[in-house]
Amino acid sequence: MTNKYIYFIANWKMFGELGSLNTLHKVTKFFKNFKNKKFTKIIYCPPSTLIRPMSKKLKDSGIDVGGQNCHENENPGPFTGFINCKMLKSVGAKYVIIGHSENRKTGENNKLINLKIKSALKSGLKIIFCIGETLQEKRKKITKRILNNQIKSGLNKIKDKKNILIAYEPIWSIGSGLIPKSNELLDTINFIKSNNKNYKVLYGGSVSTKNILQLRLIDNIDGFLIGGASQDSKKFIDIIKKSYN
Ligand code: 13P
Repeated sequence: MTNKYIYFIANWKMFGELGSLNTLHKVTKFFKNFKNKKFTKIIYCPPSTLIRPMSKKLKDSGIDVGGQNCHENENPGPFTGFINCKMLKSVGAKYVIIGHSENRKTGENNKLINLKIKSALKSGLKIIFCIGETLQEKRKKITKRILNNQIKSGLNKIKDKKNILIAYEPIWSIGSGLIPKSNELLDTINFIKSNNKNYKVLYGGSVSTKNILQLRLIDNIDGFLIGGASQDSKKFIDIIKKSYN
């Protein structure tokens, strides 16, 4: 199980304030002496207002910071309420989450996601590209068709995919405490990788200290995108530690 490079990405969503950054010292302290450090990548994606202070706190820790979304336009413009990838980069982000289902739900479609990914790549950010099916789609047994469409359209005309991590997040699993059956997850991840064997594919949706051992047994998973459990540094550290048991 060791010797495999694993990503642990904390998606704080719209949680956390300046005070919550104090908990980061526990994670940096843990990571400093972690025996599997060289096989482990930790990335924090806080709300935009915390990217700068977080990247300052994490300087030289080996832990990176990312944004949670971006505007598709690389240049400044009249887009009230938005920020673009250059802006994210200028405050210390190295990554950006694009295509999260919580944003797809408010109207982001595959075409817009494709533009955002292109813009992020141009700005030199790495991408955490989220895909996933609804419960209804799962019941109709059209998960693969949905994922295939999300991947094909989202990555349309993007040749160099080495800076793109794919995060498979079944929508019904996010925040519900439910995770897919191991054989189904193995099959889905293999399916995603059958598009391109170099894809790094992460799993997201209710990852916790309780299910991480089960999830780690699925050895084609390259890491985890963690919502709720990532806000508690103790739980987050525990998830990382247990991953190498
Ligand atoms: P939870 O871990 O809270 O289910 O959230 C998953 C998620 O949406 C991460 O992007």
